[in-house]
Formats: sequence, C-alpha cells, structure tokens
Amino acid sequence: SLESGGKRLRPILCLASAEAVAERETPDNSKNARALALPAACAIELIHTYSLIHDDLPAMDNDTLRRGRPTLHVVTSEGMAILAGDGLLTEAFGLITREPQSSDPVIVNRKLRTISVIAEAAGATGMVGGQAMDLASVTSETNKLPQPKLDSDELQKMHEQKTGALISGAASAGAIMAGADEKTTSAIKTAAAQMGLAFQIVDDILDVEGSSENLGKTAGKDAVTGKPTYPALYGLKTSRQMANHCIEHAEATLQSINLSDARLLEIGHWIIERTL
Ligand code: IPE
Ligand code: IPE
Ligand code: MG
Ligand code: MG
Ligand code: MG
Repeated sequence: SLESGGKRLRPILCLASAEAVAERETPDNSKNARALALPAACAIELIHTYSLIHDDLPAMDNDTLRRGRPTLHVVTSEGMAILAGDGLLTEAFGLITREPQSSDPVIVNRKLRTISVIAEAAGATGMVGGQAMDLASVTSETNKLPQPKLDSDELQKMHEQKTGALISGAASAGAIMAGADEKTTSAIKTAAAQMGLAFQIVDDILDVEGSSENLGKTAGKDAVTGKPTYPALYGLKTSRQMANHCIEHAEATLQSINLSDARLLEIGHWIIERTL
C-alpha cells in the first residue's frame, strides 16, 4: 500500500495500473503484468529521484532538507548532486532497455513504446519543461529570464508538466507493459494526469499548512520565494476544492472505461487526503 510502501506513489501507480488492466482482461495474469511493469516502475522512481536532487540545488529551489535529511549537494557538493542526477536519469533508460528481458516481438514493442512514453514524460514537454517554467517565473539575483507572472492557465500547465507528466507517464507505462489497448491507455493517461495535477496542488497546500518536521522538507518556502502556486493564486480553500475536483474527474474517466479498480481509486483518495 502507499503507507507501507513509504509513499512511493509513482511506482505504485505504475504497478496498480498494470494490474488493473490485466485483471479486467485475464484475472490470473495480473502477477505477470506486475512483473512486466516493474522495470518501468523502477525507472520512473529513478527519474523522480533525479528530479528532486536537481530541484533542491542552489541554482533551483535551494533547499537543504529532503526526506528528513540534508540534501545531497549539502552532504557532498553541487557537482556531485548534478552528476548523481545525470547518473540516475541515464540508468533509468538503461534499465527499461534491458528489462524485462525478452525476444518476444510483442514485449519488445511494448518496451519501445514505454521508453518513448517515459522520455516524453521526463523531457522538455514534461517534467523538465515544467521545471523550466517554474524556474523562469521566480525572481532571483541569478535569473536573467523575463520572469512572467503566470496566469491560471499557465500555472496549471506548469503543474501538469513538472509533476503531472511523470505521474501520468507512470500509469501509462504500466498500462502499456500490461498490454492495454489504445483507448484504455489513453483513459488511464488522462486520469493519472488529473491525479498528478492534484498531487502538485496538494504539495503547494502542504507547503503552507504542513511543518518541516512532518514533510521532511522545508515548509513555507514557496511563499517566501514568491513561487507561483495554487494557494498563492486561489487561496487554500479553493485550492483544496480544485484538487478534489481533479480526483473526481479522474474517477469519472476511469469509470468511463469500466476501470474503477479499487487500488487506483484508493491512490486518488490518498493524494487528496495525505498530510505528508
Ligand atoms: C518539484 O516541485 C517538482 C519536481 C519536478 C521535482 P516542488 O519544487 O514544489 O517540489 P518540492 O516541494 O521541492 O518537493
Ligand atoms: C515531491 O514529490 C516533488 C513533487 C513532485 C511535488 P514526492 O512528495 O512524491 O516526494 P518523495 O518521493 O515522497 O520524497
Ligand atoms: Mg521546485
Ligand atoms: Mg522544490
Ligand atoms: Mg513543493
């Protein structure tokens, strides 16, 4: 579960999505589907970890606390933190290329589609692009970019990209590895994108409402650094409602393809109810 798994949202969502697809089609195949999706689940967690290491660098959010411990660049050096991120990203693609090992053309084809989906989720039109929007929007001594004030559409786009893309990529990759058809994969992608947007809205809310001790990262920094966030634009109450609405939308999308799998719904609820 999300709690006992130490809150590893993205790999859990990837595996849950693979299982949901397999169970709908052939219930006895869900274990096999999980095995097929596991390398993609791990690869996405490697990419997520790299994104956090780089996100915390002085050139980005300049954070010194992560998961309750000093950030990597504090413990080692900025150069090492950059290289650790580079290494994690590269290993992620090495892993999904190698595993699952198979010469079956059906599996090889699923792997290639998964690699493409993960590249898109992680890259300039996904996480990296969202992080670039985030970086450009913040005023700092070293930022030579124009620093546009984001409107509501742009803020949503930034959140969908920097956080939603990897979460929706995780769910899509799981569905693809389990052999989902085009329509199912597309619905799962849409539903998980809604979950991903909700996840970042709640991350923004927790930055205001939570404590550093509970979150394991420095709370209250978004407001201090003038970050564009949902609470800053809409206030806490409306932000909550918007996150809840995203999860309702995700549920409706899953229902539309008869995939109201209990675990996927549970993940949606956890996203809006979590306090860390
Ligand atoms: C980060 O958003 C999104 C990433 C792609 C890493 P934040 O900057 O709000 O994440 P935290 O609050 O530092 O974890
Ligand atoms: C933090 O993500 C960065 C965001 C995208 C908001 P998580 O809250 O999933 O970070 P960990 O992996 O649990 O530390
Ligand atoms: Mg950031
Ligand atoms: Mg940050
Ligand atoms: Mg945050």
